[in-house]
Amino acid sequence: MGAFGNGTVDLQVDGDLATVVIDNPPVNAGSHDVRRGLLDAFAEISERPGIRAVVLAGANGSFVAGSDLKEFGAPLGEPQLPSVLATIEALTVPVVAALDGAALGGGFELSLACDGRVAAPGTVVGLPEVGLGIVPGAGGTQRLPRLAGLPDSLHLICGARRIKAKEALTLGLVDAIAEGDLRAAAADHARRLGGKRRVRDLTVPAVEPAVLEEARRAAVKTGRGRPAAVEAARLACLSLDMPVDEALAEERRVFQAIRVSPEAVALRHVFFAEREAGRVGGLSAPATDVERIAVIGAGTMGAGIAYALLKAGLSVTLVEQNADALEAGRGRVEGFLSGDVAKGRVTPEAGERLRARLSPSTDLAAAAASDLVLEAIFEDMDVKSQLLAELGRLAPPQTILASNTSYLDLDALALASGRPEQVIGLHFFSPAHVMKLLEVVRGRRTSDATLATGLKLGRRLGKTAIVAGVGEGFVGNRLYAAYRGQAEVLVEDGALPWQVDQALEAFGMAMGPFAVSDLSGLDIAWARRKRLAATRDPAERYVRLPDLLCEAGRLGQKTGAGWYAYEGGKRRPDPAVEALIAEDAAAAGRSRRALSDEACRDRTLAALVNEAALALDEGIAQRPGDVDVAFVNGYGFPRWRGGPLWWAAHEGRAAVLAGLDQVQAALGKGFRRGDVEALLDRIAG
Ligand code: NAI
Repeated sequence: MGAFGNGTVDLQVDGDLATVVIDNPPVNAGSHDVRRGLLDAFAEISERPGIRAVVLAGANGSFVAGSDLKEFGAPLGEPQLPSVLATIEALTVPVVAALDGAALGGGFELSLACDGRVAAPGTVVGLPEVGLGIVPGAGGTQRLPRLAGLPDSLHLICGARRIKAKEALTLGLVDAIAEGDLRAAAADHARRLGGKRRVRDLTVPAVEPAVLEEARRAAVKTGRGRPAAVEAARLACLSLDMPVDEALAEERRVFQAIRVSPEAVALRHVFFAEREAGRVGGLSAPATDVERIAVIGAGTMGAGIAYALLKAGLSVTLVEQNADALEAGRGRVEGFLSGDVAKGRVTPEAGERLRARLSPSTDLAAAAASDLVLEAIFEDMDVKSQLLAELGRLAPPQTILASNTSYLDLDALALASGRPEQVIGLHFFSPAHVMKLLEVVRGRRTSDATLATGLKLGRRLGKTAIVAGVGEGFVGNRLYAAYRGQAEVLVEDGALPWQVDQALEAFGMAMGPFAVSDLSGLDIAWARRKRLAATRDPAERYVRLPDLLCEAGRLGQKTGAGWYAYEGGKRRPDPAVEALIAEDAAAAGRSRRALSDEACRDRTLAALVNEAALALDEGIAQRPGDVDVAFVNGYGFPRWRGGPLWWAAHEGRAAVLAGLDQVQAALGKGFRRGDVEALLDRIAG
């Protein structure tokens, strides 16, 4: 037995078996030190004549979760990953990777340079690079097709898919799944191999040109046609007939160029911003565990939230005001569950266990036995205050009371409960079991323990949480309202709804603002405008068009008409809306003029960025990155642009500043201009 190592990589030799262990907590990210350590360990192995088999494993319950992305922004230091892989392939004894936890990106590529791969049952493998705007840079595009064939490899690489060990076994990416001792199984496998089995020496299975072309097209589409997906697909296809060393060199060349592209830099920004988002500095109390949650109100949101909680393993008491509403809500939860079972996302057995954790009730007292009670009832201050007061009386003093309110004053609700320290906003987005974003709203008196618990619950649900302060619409809806409001002003000024939508969709938004309004229903914003009518600033420019649509019964998709007309679910521009816009302008004595697509884009995005500057100054939003995270995860902003503020600071500065002047001119005295220049300087700096 002998040991050797540099702190991040250890080598143990036991008889004819060498075990190389990567130990770089928490997830063994491949860093400069890891690469150096691996090279040293393999050099040592090559000099010891008695070694017949090598196992390459990870400590900390994970093989290698990926490369250290922090290194990607600057020139990469030597040694780089391809030299480590070449060293493993040049070794004369077989090396078997023992995979557990995650083997992703550069970590998975490392294992593909080994002679075999044995995985623990829960292991996740994949090449997520394309999702980060780059291509695999250490042979992934060449070695994967040699094992799994091109069609499946294209799908995995361009879709940035992470797959479980079982699927990896079926695809031939791992050789065996080890139920027991992983390293022992890997050692056995290495001994059985007897000699080298390099993936690079295999031939890519032949594939019909038409089949390949179809697979390539479909794969690029799953990668949203972004440059990284196009390039990764091209590189993978080289594996068919280009000599392997030439193809590896080409892959490396593309990797080096694309990793510093603005798109890759923007995607890394979102990656880091997402990890940062749910963190709050200086919390003085730890989170408590919640296991049993009561959800009050089983409508659209309550049912989705209940299902998300059940899926995360929590027990849920679902409370409605009467038996019919309760049955309807239970039916909605059941609908989500049976949909997931039908699609194979949840096994029938897991579905049964999930059902058993749901307790429907029409008695509010049934909620009292929970660690946290979340209300998702009608958006009405009186109704919600009354409920909070009742919950304050019913639930034990330590129970956390949470509200899913979109716009109401959380501090007022907190006071009504009589326990403001234990009140928090948990603002989900619709559909709640699908959308990643969660706004955790910190009231003026929310305690640190309550906030920490809310954030922990968000993580347990797999949500990306940002912390918001109390203010109309919190962060996301407040900024979105400024953006959508400007879109409506553009229509008054001369654009048409479909022109604005098209301009923003061409920019990359998943859907234009008018299509979004029709989808979510125009009545929600209508009710809000009525609520705010009495306190509205008279200087504010008020666009009447949405009210006129609502008054005409055009509430959006659900009524077959809104900003657009709908036939058989298909959206089309409606001459009746064009006429309504013209009539409204004539009645108000306002002239309209044609506006460019650029003006539509610049003004809406400038309005958004301006509102972000205000919200950050007021402390409603914690940091610029949170705004980016919210818009990418909750509002269909193109991730590859890095979110609205990142985009504005790096690519869109001139457009935003020009747009801002136009917004100011259009809104006049009612416009509050934030210090956008300072904000953009700070982000770009
Ligand atoms: P909804 O109208 O679909 O559901 C509300 C449910 O609450 C109804 O089933 C009603 O019977 C029940 N309810 C009312 N009073 C109750 C009481 N005292 N006890 C028990 N149940 C009661 O409304 P939706 O859309 O689910 O909204 C609920 C809350 O979520 C609102 O505060 C809303 O602002 C917020 N929200 C809505 C989003 C959306 O997209 N719909 C997005 C994010 C938040």
